Amino acid sequence: MASKTRVILMGIGEMGGQAARLILEKQNFEIVGAIGHKRGVGEDLSKMINIDKKIGVIVSSDAREVYSSVEADIVLHFAASTIKDTFSQVEGALETRKNVITIAEEASFPWLTEIEVAEKIDSLAKEKGVTFVGTGVNPGFMFDYLPITMTGALKKVNKIRVVRVVDFSRYGPAVWEHIGVGKSPESFKEGLSNGDIVLHVGLEQTVNITAKAMGWIIDDFKESQEGLVSKSKRKAKYGMVDPGTMCGFKQIGTGYANGKDVIIQEITGLILPNIGEDGVTVGTYIMIDGEPNVKVSIEGELAEQGGWATVARAVNSIPQVLKAQPGLLTVDQLPPSPCCP
Ligand SMILES: NC(=O)c1ccc[n+]([C@@H]2O[C@H](COP(=O)([O-])OP(=O)(O)OC[C@H]3O[C@@H](n4cnc5c(N)ncnc54)[C@H](OP(=O)(O)O)[C@@H]3O)[C@@H](O)[C@H]2O)c1
Repeated sequence: MASKTRVILMGIGEMGGQAARLILEKQNFEIVGAIGHKRGVGEDLSKMINIDKKIGVIVSSDAREVYSSVEADIVLHFAASTIKDTFSQVEGALETRKNVITIAEEASFPWLTEIEVAEKIDSLAKEKGVTFVGTGVNPGFMFDYLPITMTGALKKVNKIRVVRVVDFSRYGPAVWEHIGVGKSPESFKEGLSNGDIVLHVGLEQTVNITAKAMGWIIDDFKESQEGLVSKSKRKAKYGMVDPGTMCGFKQIGTGYANGKDVIIQEITGLILPNIGEDGVTVGTYIMIDGEPNVKVSIEGELAEQGGWATVARAVNSIPQVLKAQPGLLTVDQLPPSPCCP
């Protein structure tokens, strides 16, 4: 029997915890290390992810020690959004010849925010013969991989527009914090201007991933942001939204080539959206202007469980990342990653 792929998990929050549970269900993967922060350190991973059966992996807060002492094929990283934080948390993994999949949004196209860090990651990964890639549902699938794949069935493509309506109630506290839900409109506005609130991170990245795959040169990018105020009380796992406070946001990123808007990506993120009050239905709608025109709608469970899709993308990408060329890659450079048994 072939040996199992050995996985270290870094960041055991909402996404990392779901990933741990998913890996335990998979035939060909095993968890050999877990890196936490404050909660659960020194205890069996099972306790952090609320399962009864012991896993036999003790959560450590010393990432470097885990990377150097635990033999593993890959690190799945769920602890940050920025490429700087991600690199500082996984540099030791690359140094010890471990592949890395991260869901950090900036890592999906890191040249945009930190060109030097991106180059460092690329050369370290190449030197060590491993691959580093950022993926998830968004960046990593709905705004980039899926529309790019759809264009392969068309004769010509003029414009790609993707609209997403997402229920953010299922993401963890880090996400609640950075989209400013539950805050008054005044402190939301203040948070946006001082950078405490960042809303969805990744539109410029996904526009660039798409453009790169299409061979388009983006010469301008514009982004608009607007907060949404709740009329009703919304109670979710990680918090409460009172009437008159922020329940979400709408954000539009547009990439221009030769003065024309060629890639438009809209995301409306809401805590527990409801059609009566919010006028929108959770889903992803891909509209490609080309020959022929095409519209793809994704509704129902996959659209509603964005967190699951993020985690599934990270876990199911493992085999393709292990086979990929060394270096820093973007998702469009990976073949499709089917659901692993
Ligand atoms: N690409 C995508 O599609 C996608 C989708 C969803 C989320 N994300 C991003 O992924 C990240 C995680 O999301 P989440 O919902 O899982 O957030 P979360 O529930 O807040 O989890 C983050 C976890 O990372 C841990 N952590 C932070 N710094 C760490 C460090 N230095 N060492 C070890 N662990 C550390 C935190 O530990 P403590 O709680 O102990 O501090 C927490 O358990 C967020 O930045 C989010 O923006 C990306």
